[in-house]
This record gives sequence, C-alpha cells and structure tokens, in this order.
Amino acid sequence: MRKRIVAGNWKMNKTYEEALSLVSEIDNMVKDEVNEDVTVIVTPPFPFLQGVGKLVQGNDKMHLAAQDVSEHDSGAYTGEVSAAMLKSVGVEYVIIGHSERRLYHHEDAQLLYQKMKAAIKNGLKPIFCCGEPLEERDADRHFDYVGQQLKDSVSYLSNEEFDQIVIAYEPIWAIGTGKTATAEQAQEMHAYIREQLSRMFDAEAAYNCSILYGGSCNPGNAQEIFSKKDVDGGLVGGASLKSRDFTDIIKSF
Ligand code: G3P
Repeated sequence: MRKRIVAGNWKMNKTYEEALSLVSEIDNMVKDEVNEDVTVIVTPPFPFLQGVGKLVQGNDKMHLAAQDVSEHDSGAYTGEVSAAMLKSVGVEYVIIGHSERRLYHHEDAQLLYQKMKAAIKNGLKPIFCCGEPLEERDADRHFDYVGQQLKDSVSYLSNEEFDQIVIAYEPIWAIGTGKTATAEQAQEMHAYIREQLSRMFDAEAAYNCSILYGGSCNPGNAQEIFSKKDVDGGLVGGASLKSRDFTDIIKSF
C-alpha cells in the first residue's frame, strides 16, 4: 500500500522562533485531528532542522525533510549540506529538483540523479520534483516534458533505489500563483507518470510509488485533488506556513 503524504515546503520563510511556534501548532493539531495512515512532513530551512526535528520526534505521524542536499559526501564545498549531516539531525526525506532550484541554481538532470543517489545512500528518501512550464502545456507538450524529466534522472536509479523515492508533480504555472491544476489535470498527469515509471521499473514498483501534487494546494481544493486515484497527497508551499490551513489540507483525505 503506497503512503499517503502531505508535505509542507516552507521555502525561505520564518525566523527560528516563528518556525518553532508554527511546528508546535501543527504538531498539536496533527496529534488531535489527523488519522494514522497519513504521513505528515514539514520542510523547514536548513538552520531550523535540528530544533524543529526535536519538537516532532515524539509524534509518529510527523516527519522532517530538507529542501535540498549536496551530491557530495563531505569536503571543500562551502555552503553545501551533506545527506549524512541531514540524517544526523533526524531528517528522513529531502526535496530534490524543485523547479525553483532548477531555475535559480541551474540544477540539471545529472546533478539531480547524483543528489538522489547521495540521499538514498545515507538513508534519506528523495521527493523528486517534476512539472512543466505554462508554454509546454499550452503547446500540448506537457506529458513529453515531464516524461523527459523522469527519463533524464529517475530512470537511472536501480530498482532498490527507486523503491525509496516519492515523486512530486508540480506544474510550474501553478506554483505560488493561486492558479491550481484541476483535479482532472492532476489525475491525468499522475496516471501518465505512473505509467512511465512502470515502463522504467515494473508495474508493482510504480503502483507502490507515492505521487504528490504541488501547486497552489489549499483547504478549498485539496479534497477533490486528493480524491483522484493516482494522487497520493500534496507538496504544499504557501498554505503550509499557516497551521490551520496545513492541517485542514492534511484532513482532506
Ligand atoms: O514545493 C511546493 C511548492 O512549490 C508549491 O507552492 O505556494 O503553490 O503551494 P504553493
């Protein structure tokens, strides 16, 4: 049975005190309001990981993710953070290939593959992001675009490595815009992604892979999107910075 997951990507927001306050609110709401079979992930900025991790460790529904990871194990890589460092402060998941990092940091397919390998080697679960820009969808090339992203990075993983990853479909035109994909648009792309994964690995592995939707997910649209057969949850940005909204999204299953 593949996992149902709602992950909050905090991006570059909050101070340390604000982060502790937010995660304490979420932790209490999740404990009281969310059923057992939903995995909740919070993804604070690097400096807050250890402090936030300590607050969630007592709640078996809550898990910690990082927003990026170095492809290197250690050494002279100023400013980078290794998978082993993340693991040592309780991180379990790591977002890899978010469109904002592909754009602003020029992260290419080979680098993302190397990041996924480093993460898996150190016991972390990658959340691999894919998704098309508006011009690709407008030109009806969105399936080919996303399929190529999977082919250029994910397809090189071994079967055992693939079993460790989560996929997040985040249409770039929906990120931070308030313009969400329809539930039908999400389902058709998720089904396509699962079909592509079954060709790269096998049907069982593809069936068991959690595929999350991201892009202006909010309490008003989450229920319909999450009700779709191939949608296994969400990767939430803005709405994850508000404890009530984030918890309401989690309860949308
Ligand atoms: O990683 C999730 C993020 O890209 C989605 O952002 O603000 O559209 O929910 P948002």
